Amino acid sequence: MESLVKKIDKNISAMIQVAVLNILKLGMEYRIFNKLTSKKHYLDILNMSSIKNKPLLKDLLDTYVEIGIVERTLNEIRMRDFSYTITFSRESISYIQPDWISVFEEMYKMTTYSFISPEHPKILMDFDKDADFWDMRLSLEFNSTYRKLIASIGKLRDEMTVLDLGCGSVSPVEIGKLVGPNGKYVGVDFSPGMLSIAKSRIKELGLDWVILRELDIRTMIPRSKYDIIIMSFVLEYLPTLSLLKVIDTAMAALNEGGKLIIIEPFRENYPQIAAWEFFEKLTKEFTKFPSKSAIINSLEQTNYNFRLHEIGKSVLVVEKL
Ligand SMILES: C[S@@+](CC[C@H](N)C(=O)[O-])C[C@H]1O[C@@H](n2cnc3c(N)ncnc32)[C@H](O)[C@@H]1O
Repeated sequence: MESLVKKIDKNISAMIQVAVLNILKLGMEYRIFNKLTSKKHYLDILNMSSIKNKPLLKDLLDTYVEIGIVERTLNEIRMRDFSYTITFSRESISYIQPDWISVFEEMYKMTTYSFISPEHPKILMDFDKDADFWDMRLSLEFNSTYRKLIASIGKLRDEMTVLDLGCGSVSPVEIGKLVGPNGKYVGVDFSPGMLSIAKSRIKELGLDWVILRELDIRTMIPRSKYDIIIMSFVLEYLPTLSLLKVIDTAMAALNEGGKLIIIEPFRENYPQIAAWEFFEKLTKEFTKFPSKSAIINSLEQTNYNFRLHEIGKSVLVVEKL
C-alpha cells in the first residue's frame, strides 16, 4: 500500500510541476510576460493582448498572481522576479507513470484553442460531448493506481456493497469487478456519455452486480446503505456550497463501521496547484480542487461520529462510528 500512496502523491506533484512549466510557456508564447516587465494597468493588459477570450486571459493573470509570478495591486499589475526549481530525485522518478504527460500536452493545445473561443470545437473536455477523451484520461496508469489503492483501503471483496459517487467510465469495471457476484457496486454519474461507455463494458464483461444510475450527486437520495463509499476526483466539480450536502448524503448512506474514501490533490498539500487548475477549467463544471480542511469542516457539521485517517497527501478515509 505504501508504494501505491507514493505513486499517487509523486505523480500529482509531477503533474503540478509540468503544469507550472506549461503556464510559464503560455506567458512567454503569448508575450504576456513581455508586456508585464513594467507596471501596467490591469485593464490595459486585458485589452492589448491578442488573446480573444478575455475571461480566460483574466483567469491566466489571476493564476500568475496566485503562484507568485506576477504581482497585482488594486489596478496595476507587474511581472516579479520569479525562479522555479524542479528537483528530480531518483526515488520520485521511479514512481512516475508517464502516460499522463501526453494528456497534459493535449490540454496545453486545447488552451490555445480556448484563447480563441471557449466553445472551440477542438476543446475535448466535456464529459458528454468528449466522453471518449475523458475515458482515455480515466484509463491512465495513474487512475488505475488510485483504484488499486481504494481496493486495498476498502479491503474490497465479494459480498461487499460499494457506492461510487461520480463514477466515470472506468471505475465501474475496475472497482465493480472486485465486489461481485454476491456484492453490489452502484456507480452514480450525471453524464450520460460517461455512463454509456461504462454500461457497454459492464454488459460485455457480464458484471451484472454493477448498477449504474444517471443522477446528480448534489440532489440524489440513496435508499440503501453501503460498506464503502468512494469519491475520487469528483469534489472539484462541485460548487463550494454543495460540499456539505454531498458529504452529509454520503455519511447518511454509509453503514456503521463503513468507510468513505476520498482521493483528491488536497490544495493545502500542493502549493502550486493553481497552475494545474488553470488547465482543468477547460471542463466547464470544474471549480477547484478541494482543501482537506473544508472536507473535515463539512464532516464536523454533520451529525455523524467518525474517525479520520489521512493517508499520504491525497487520501482521506472517514470511518463511520
Ligand atoms: C474526473 S472524473 C472521475 C471519475 C471517477 N471517479 C474516477 O476516478 O475514475 C469526474 C466524474 O464525475 C462526474 N460528475 C461531476 N460532477 C458530478 C455531479 N454533480 N453528479 C454526478 N456526477 C458528477 C463526471 O461526469 C465525471 O464522470
